[in-house]
Amino acid sequence: MTTSSTIQVPMNDLSIQYREIKPGIDAALAEVIESCSFILGPQVQAFENAYAAYCGTDHCIGVSNGTDALKLALIASDIGPGDEVITTPHTFGATVEAIFQVGARAVLTDIEPDYFTLDVGQIENKLTSQTKAIIPVHIYGQMTDMDPLVELAREKGLKVIEDAAQVLGSTWHGRRLGTLGDVNFFSLGRGKALSTVEGGIILTDRDDVAGSIDSRMTDISKYNASELLNLIFKALTLILFQLPALFWIPKALPYLRVGDTIYDIHFKIRKLSTFQAGLAKNWIKKLKKFKLNRKDNSRNWVSLAKTDYLHNYCSKNGHIPDMLRYPVRVGERNSWESILNESETHGLGVMLTYPTSINGVCELRRFFKGQQYPAAEGLSHQILTFPIHPYVLQKDIKKITELFLKEISNGKVYSR
Ligand SMILES: Cc1ncc(COP(=O)(O)O)c(C=O)c1O
Repeated sequence: MTTSSTIQVPMNDLSIQYREIKPGIDAALAEVIESCSFILGPQVQAFENAYAAYCGTDHCIGVSNGTDALKLALIASDIGPGDEVITTPHTFGATVEAIFQVGARAVLTDIEPDYFTLDVGQIENKLTSQTKAIIPVHIYGQMTDMDPLVELAREKGLKVIEDAAQVLGSTWHGRRLGTLGDVNFFSLGRGKALSTVEGGIILTDRDDVAGSIDSRMTDISKYNASELLNLIFKALTLILFQLPALFWIPKALPYLRVGDTIYDIHFKIRKLSTFQAGLAKNWIKKLKKFKLNRKDNSRNWVSLAKTDYLHNYCSKNGHIPDMLRYPVRVGERNSWESILNESETHGLGVMLTYPTSINGVCELRRFFKGQQYPAAEGLSHQILTFPIHPYVLQKDIKKITELFLKEISNGKVYSR
């Protein structure tokens, strides 16, 4: 029998998260059950128009994820076999996968370790007659130094494709990040500033690029019924596995590959579905609220940690980032392993976000044999990211802080 002393307080109220995705699930089920024709609903167009207006750009195209968005952006920019594209080794593998998928070659340029982003000063040394584009990646919320990068690209006749996957909703000098290149893209995937389980957005002011994408969209399929049901399943599992009582499942059932980063060289492009547009309902309000939640969580844990080891991150050009996750540099492999083990056991959400630089990722390293990127490689070995998303629990922030402070007292945390 339950008595007042044994009442279980729910650690995470799932109904809150369910309410976030309910409009999308309702729309998708209606789509599956009633129409079975999967015609793109007016919600998708309305979302694209609203997003273009929010960013002040002429064209917005929604697709199934950020990687697809980048692939389409590359194709529409006439980049293909024989071309070279410059990008950073400290990024998600998808940035580089998309380049290889269109038949081009990814050329890596090292980063500025204090800012985590491309060292723009090194780009010129990497240019050849085959170079066609530069893909700056704004990472964790930190932006690449765009003014000199765009200037160099203009001077050399190169396209700029901004990877704004992690900076949706951020501004710099009154301009939205993700509007500074010739063609730009965002991810609406898991853990992003705005998530529709999966999803991607392309933005451009260039009519020629938009026209090229539009002409290709007619050959691109919508999600079919089973893909749509799979999306719904993913939405539900993402909610479920946030429940602390179920944290053990992904580890105990590895074949489910829940939460795994899968480097899939053969991904299929799909149009954004009504389901995803439904998940994005009230997105401007959500985006604002989530941004404040992330700022509050960052502040909370910086004030709990009470230490000079945490920085108020800012980019080289003075941009104050809206951090997506909070990056912390720890000097000793042993330190972060103990934090990670504790985190895994208790489901705290501390991550080795990019445990190796792109040239070391096993699915990609054959493309970069013998190449070295000391700043990016060093950073990958030193960086942990702490969760600051809206659903993170304050007691988990406290626990992470305790672990962190223990390592500091052991003298193992790096200070820049
Ligand atoms: C920097 C960066 N680029 C590209 C992508 C790819 O986006 P998606 O996962 O939606 O395909 C991601 C996703 O995490 C990312 O973080």
